[in-house]
Amino acid sequence: MDGKQRRLQRILNRKTGRSLVLAVDHGMALGAMTGIVDIAKTIRDLDATGKVDCWLMTKGIYTYAFDPAGDPGVILRASGGATIAGPDLTREGQTADAEEALTLGVDAMATTAFIGSEYEHETLIGMAEMATECRQWDLPLLGVIGLGKINEDKKKDPQFIALGARVGAEHGADIIKTYYTESDFDKVVAGCPVPVMIAGGPKCETDLDTLDMIYGALQGGARGIVMGRNVWQSPHPTALLSAVFGLIHENMNVKEAAELLEQKIDAS
Ligand code: 5RP
Repeated sequence: MDGKQRRLQRILNRKTGRSLVLAVDHGMALGAMTGIVDIAKTIRDLDATGKVDCWLMTKGIYTYAFDPAGDPGVILRASGGATIAGPDLTREGQTADAEEALTLGVDAMATTAFIGSEYEHETLIGMAEMATECRQWDLPLLGVIGLGKINEDKKKDPQFIALGARVGAEHGADIIKTYYTESDFDKVVAGCPVPVMIAGGPKCETDLDTLDMIYGALQGGARGIVMGRNVWQSPHPTALLSAVFGLIHENMNVKEAAELLEQKIDAS
């Protein structure tokens, strides 16, 4: 066991090898959006369910709004510097370093590379450099594979997403977070030597669609989710969280998870 393995166990559940990571890092680019306006409350309420393995957040939120009920893992979002008000959301740079991450006491760092975008080169070099820094301190690195507006239509293209996942791993990421392609997601996973987890993207129409997406990804070999809006913008976030946990850690199918969701909604 080394430091990185130990920290990875704060992210990936030791028994299942999977993880339910809730992302609340959206405010750095999108501002106070529905579901995370009072972000301290969102974190408190969702963490109190005991279903969250780990959180993904920026240093600002970690410092001033993170007071979890339990002892979940934390991945520090360490790239940013671009907002929806600016010219290009893909122009991200490093916003925190490994020493800062260790001082804060988080378990891993995360950075985004925008494959196929104008800033592909800069963001990939950023990922490689952060991986070098993380290795010096045995900190795991979550490599987020983004696309940027120009390639939005490639989100469900397995070849393109497989390229991104592989490239992220080759640049030193220990876990990849990317989009669920629906078809051939197993090929995305097969070509990536490190665990692949899925992001949710904008809110699905229904909670059942969210469960379907997560189940499909797990069947394709995903090791879990790093998801935000589909959970905390749901009309029933805590109930949904139990159902998602059932899919990820209790091998439930969509029908069983949907029944659990209904039970939890009825009981609330
Ligand atoms: C926002 C992110 C998010 O972490 C990521 O997209 C996951 O959240 P969602 O499920 O809402 O897409 O990178 O900057």
